[in-house]
Amino acid sequence: MNHLHGKKILIGITGSIAAYKIASLVRLFKKAGAEVRVIMTPAATAFITPLTLSTLSGNDVLTAVIDTDNWNNHVELGLWADAYIIAPATANTIAKMANGQCDNLLLAAYLSARCPVYVAPAMDLDMYAHPTTRTNLERLESFGHRIIPAEEGELASGLIGQGRMAEPEHIFDFIEETFRSGGSLAGKNILMTAGPTYEPIDPVRFIGNRSSGKMGMALAEAAANRGANVSLVLGPSAQDSRHPNVTIYRVQTAQEMHEQATALFPECDAAILAAAVADYRPKTAADKKIKKQNNNLTIELVENPDIAQTLGKMKKANQRLVGFALETNDEIANARKKIQKKNFDFIVLNSLKDKNAGFNFDTNKITIIHSDNNTQEFELKSKKKVAEDIIEVLVGIL
Ligand code: PMT
Repeated sequence: MNHLHGKKILIGITGSIAAYKIASLVRLFKKAGAEVRVIMTPAATAFITPLTLSTLSGNDVLTAVIDTDNWNNHVELGLWADAYIIAPATANTIAKMANGQCDNLLLAAYLSARCPVYVAPAMDLDMYAHPTTRTNLERLESFGHRIIPAEEGELASGLIGQGRMAEPEHIFDFIEETFRSGGSLAGKNILMTAGPTYEPIDPVRFIGNRSSGKMGMALAEAAANRGANVSLVLGPSAQDSRHPNVTIYRVQTAQEMHEQATALFPECDAAILAAAVADYRPKTAADKKIKKQNNNLTIELVENPDIAQTLGKMKKANQRLVGFALETNDEIANARKKIQKKNFDFIVLNSLKDKNAGFNFDTNKITIIHSDNNTQEFELKSKKKVAEDIIEVLVGIL
């Protein structure tokens, strides 16, 4: 089935040598039966003529908010599109998008767009690797936009490295794939827990752990990118999201996380529990800072509620529950026990034995174990990619 047939594709071209390749991209979309409209920045017109693109797209190409005798309605363009693809996207345009600047029609349409936005960067390798560009691209991702990574190869400067705009066929495949799978969680409510919990000892000290919340945030955004409404119950963490489909509930302790998660779960289609929840908390938290004493200090701990187990008991036939297991030994056997005990549909195992996996890293290495004991092993990947793998498996059982 052709998922692009009849779709309205808006392409925004900025001033890069890769602009000439957009002629092929327009043809690919037209061949797939999509309707295509093109906006160019003034700089882009130096690299390919509007006439070429209007001929190929079958529509006038717009280059300015005000033409000689026309006001081009950026709001109408932004609302018309089913997808807005900024390709090639220069470092300059990416920086402006990340900061809400709006000095041309392409950017005005971007700020007015309600559809998914895709960005295919093109620039020299040092510009692409520059921390400012990386931060700006991360910012765009946090808005829910999809970045189509630049590819390796010879650059216009003669240098060789990453920075070439993805080939038109790859951009086309990327968009087609997101139209195929992109709405697969539309209308679904997904609960996530993430991050550590802090269990207070006194006003200045707590029992916590090394979870950063990165894995849970990657999961929240991966599900949101597929159209889910995500409620993320997040322990103390520096992570944040500006994704319009992600609502963050910030909590501190396991009891607060338990209360928030159990309140949200009845309205949810699934829950993914990536939080590293403290199993125990101090029986009492001192109301004043505990002073140093000459002898040992004993803190009595009491058991915390097990959020996963509570949700496992609440779970209805049409709901799915996914757990995590962080293990240091007998990984598979321990993870399997948790599937039974907590009524998970599948569990995501990560081990502290694996290099660059688990707490705080930007990468993770997981094994998914299903309730029927089937297992799927994955390579070490970025937490973002790991999250996409997990969401793909969830989509399969929803
Ligand atoms: O946050 P990052 O730095 O990115 O690191 C990610 C991670 C390593 C924290 C994450 O990938 C992970 O493994 N999370 C689960 C860690 C854990 O506490 O596992 P567990 O084996 O103790 O718990 C099993 C499951 O029960 C988990 O889904 C946990 O969220 C849940 N649980 C545990 C105890 C409790 N009181 N309530 C729970 O819901």
